[in-house]
Amino acid sequence: MLSDGATQQLIGGLIMSQPNTKKTLRCTVFASGGGSNFQTLIDKKTSGDLHVDFVLMIGNNSGAKAFERARTNNIPTLHTAPSHFADEDLYAAYLISILKNVNTELIVLAGYMKKLPSLIINEYRNKIVNIHPALLPAFGGKGMYGINVHRAVIEYGAKVSGITVHFVDEEYDHGPVIMQKTVPVLDDDDESTLASRVLEAEHEYYWKAVQAIAQGNVRVEGRKVIWLWTKHA
Ligand code: GRF
Repeated sequence: MLSDGATQQLIGGLIMSQPNTKKTLRCTVFASGGGSNFQTLIDKKTSGDLHVDFVLMIGNNSGAKAFERARTNNIPTLHTAPSHFADEDLYAAYLISILKNVNTELIVLAGYMKKLPSLIINEYRNKIVNIHPALLPAFGGKGMYGINVHRAVIEYGAKVSGITVHFVDEEYDHGPVIMQKTVPVLDDDDESTLASRVLEAEHEYYWKAVQAIAQGNVRVEGRKVIWLWTKHA
């Protein structure tokens, strides 16, 4: 996907994609919990490494620490949940109107525990990213969230786990893969030691995938996400 600001130039007969240096990508973040990934994204934006604007943070759980993180950083917030609406279509229409209102260009899921309605996925096809704390398609799907994922990895006896950053489609943990990184599973790991090691990797890499999108560095071809001018971060 090339973002609007990304440019293409004809050089020696080859179309070369150029980094988007002109504008920052307008991101809405969805989060339900602690928001440590959200915090890393905020920190990378503050340090000038991540070229996005966080135009809104949406959460379904008013007590989530992610709200606090947004407020501390002057990011507008919205508390809403599917249960506030008579049906999913109404919820979706409301969310779409809000997302359009703030000119959202990319939706970043950062520990968002609700499934997004398919109307939103369709409207923002390949413009919604998620991070999953395992190497998909293993240890993903319905019910595979939080500590459940790491417990399943350990019970299976896997020697590696990792992170997957992917675009979101209508199925749980299924859209095109943008980035994967492995993390070792050690013999004496329990779910919580493995969870911390994986979370560290999430913090190290999620922002790099978002930055690649912001710069127009990735293009989606069917299930494949092609990195245009850098190898995998
Ligand atoms: C992360 O493990 C991420 O992989 C998953 O939700 C968790 C969110 O953690 N999607 P945090 O709220 O960012 O700390």
